[in-house]
Amino acid sequence: MIFWISEKLKHGLATMLFMVLVWPVGQAQAETMKIDSPISPLVKPATLDADKVALGRKLFFEPRLSSDNSISCAHCHDLAQGGGDGSKFSFGVNGAEGGMNSPTVYNAGLNVAQFWDGRATSLEEQVNGPTHNPVEMNSDWKTIITKLKNDSEYNRLFDGLYKQGINADNIRDAIATFERSLVTINSPFDRYLLGDNSAISAKQKQGYALFVNYGCTSCHQGANVGSNMFEVLGVFDDYFRKRGHINNNDFGRFNVTGNEEDKYKFKVPSLRLVTLTAPYFHDGSVETLDEAVQKMAYFQLGRRIPKADVEAIIAFLESLVGELDSQTP
Ligand code: HEC
Ligand code: HEC
Repeated sequence: MIFWISEKLKHGLATMLFMVLVWPVGQAQAETMKIDSPISPLVKPATLDADKVALGRKLFFEPRLSSDNSISCAHCHDLAQGGGDGSKFSFGVNGAEGGMNSPTVYNAGLNVAQFWDGRATSLEEQVNGPTHNPVEMNSDWKTIITKLKNDSEYNRLFDGLYKQGINADNIRDAIATFERSLVTINSPFDRYLLGDNSAISAKQKQGYALFVNYGCTSCHQGANVGSNMFEVLGVFDDYFRKRGHINNNDFGRFNVTGNEEDKYKFKVPSLRLVTLTAPYFHDGSVETLDEAVQKMAYFQLGRRIPKADVEAIIAFLESLVGELDSQTP
């Protein structure tokens, strides 16, 4: 008896589930042809304070954040060029060279954490890094605050927005708010996902199918096509032994957690603007996208993939580029 009831119940539940889940999806598809995908379209945050965004932009372009007034955030994160700096490693004050490739700042508000090893848990916290790093801006909050307080324009802007005026918290808040506005919406691929079947070419569609079928989306997924997990570089073969010269930066996430299983793990980077941000990988060792895709297939998925497939995947990656920010402060 109990068995009979539960069978009936199951049947009823299955029908209900079908009505609730499957039927409306089918309806929606019929109307808009939205694509079901492990990648989702980017959306601009609706609630950012426009005046804070403007102040954050001014600070982002402000070389006085560095010890010798020569290096702004934009120096290493060129918004017109995809938000990176186009070189293997970055150069800070006095030409000092860093040891890691500069990632894009676009869409950074969506990252699970900041930096290749995720050592900053928020955009606000991230700002402490470059401002104090001896090979980047080489400054400190006391010096920065003194310089900004000597500028009447900054006093006016901060006083209008923040009770305490110019201080480290408010500088971090304004820069982070500006960064959250840097969302590259409206890419051809997003328009395709939202139902515009002609937004991308046949080759790009084929590249997208390959990207999914090879398994790239097991790591590069979500709205940022990455940046939502940490994964080992070298799942199927030893990337670091092959490259040689292992250094401290190569330990990745391990440097933050101290857990042995986090060695060689990195934040899976976003591929949203990857066609604009060569060279590649945390070590900046890969010069072309072609080589990056081949290395990914080999080291992360254990495959050698044909040249035509690499080209189609790159064509797909091109369709991920949305609107860049072209305003100056
Ligand atoms: C001298 C070059 C340089 C300067 C100046 C610089 N950055 Fe960076 N930035 C880098 C490098 C290199 C990394 C990656 C470092 C790492 O992961 O250890 C990075 C990482 C970041 C990230 C994390 C992105 C991600 O995907 O993990 C953000 C956000 C960022 N920078 C914003 C800023 C802001 C804001 C400023 C100014 C306050 C700034 N940067 C100044 C070179 C620079
Ligand atoms: C197991 C997880 C994983 C898989 C699967 C994977 N990737 Fe990656 N991908 C990563 C990680 C981690 C990095 C960062 C490597 C580093 O830090 O040096 C990366 C980096 C990249 C980069 C360089 C991005 C940059 O800004 O430097 C590209 C391009 C890329 N992947 C494309 C692909 C493609 C195409 C595929 C499928 C053929 C793929 N990935 C499969 C984890 C993965």
